[in-house]
Amino acid sequence: MAGRHTAARFEYDIRKNLTPNDIADMFNDYAEDYEQEYLNIGLRSHIVVGDFMAKVVPVEDRSRVRVLDVGAGTGLLGNELKSLGFTHIDALDPAEKMLEVSRRRDIYQRLICAFMNKNRNDDIDTDYYDYIVASAAFNEGLVPCEAFQEMIRVVKPGGRITFTVPTKFINNSDDLRNRLRPLIDQLAREGVWEVTSVALEDGELSYTHGPGVMFSLKVLVSETIL
Ligand SMILES: C[S@@+](CC[C@H](N)C(=O)[O-])C[C@H]1O[C@@H](n2cnc3c(N)ncnc32)[C@H](O)[C@@H]1O
Repeated sequence: MAGRHTAARFEYDIRKNLTPNDIADMFNDYAEDYEQEYLNIGLRSHIVVGDFMAKVVPVEDRSRVRVLDVGAGTGLLGNELKSLGFTHIDALDPAEKMLEVSRRRDIYQRLICAFMNKNRNDDIDTDYYDYIVASAAFNEGLVPCEAFQEMIRVVKPGGRITFTVPTKFINNSDDLRNRLRPLIDQLAREGVWEVTSVALEDGELSYTHGPGVMFSLKVLVSETIL
C-alpha cells in the first residue's frame, strides 16, 4: 500500500492539488494493488461499457474495428472487450506500470504511454480509430474535458466515444461540473456529435460510486477546435 500520493487513491479532494504527473506517479505506485482494491468495491464500469459496445458493434465486425481504450490502466475494459471478440484494441495511459500489468495479459496491440489532454499526440493518426472507450477515467485529476478535442481528432467520422462517469465525480470536480454537460450539449448543437446518454443507477458502476451516466458520443466530423 506504500507509494506516492497514497492518500489520494480514494480521497478525490486531495487530487485537486496534484499535477497530472503526480496522478500518473500515484497510479504507477498503485499498479500491483489496483485491481484487487477496485474489484473489492465492485467496480463494474468496464462491464457497462463492454455491454454497450456489444450492442452497437455486430459480432462479425469486432475483429475489424479499431478501438482505443483511454485511461486503460491494467486492462479491465480491454479484457472485457477481448472476451466479446474485439481484437484490435490499443491502450493509452500515462502510468507505464499500469500498462505493464496489462501487457502480461496480452490484451492490447499497442500500449501508448501518454496523457489524453488537449495536446495533439503525433503518434496517433487523425481518424484512425472506430471507437474510443473509457471506464473509470473521468474523475478529479484524470482525463480533462479539453481532451475531447484530441479524442474527436483520432476517432473517424461515424465512430464513437463511450465512457461512464459517476454523478458524484461530476459534482466534485470543477472541470467536470462546469464543462462536461455544457460541452457535450454545445458540440451536439454544432453538429460535432450525436449524443446517447444512459442513466446508471446506484450500484451499476460499483458498490460505492452511486448513480452515474454513460455517454456515447457518435462523432460526425474529422476534427474540431475547442
Ligand atoms: C481508475 S483508473 C481506470 C483504469 C481502467 N480503465 C479500469 O476501468 O480499471 C484511471 C486510469 O486513468 C489514467 N489516467 C490519468 N490521467 C489520464 C489522462 N489524462 N489520460 C489518460 N489516462 C489517464 C490513470 O493512469 C489510470 O490508469
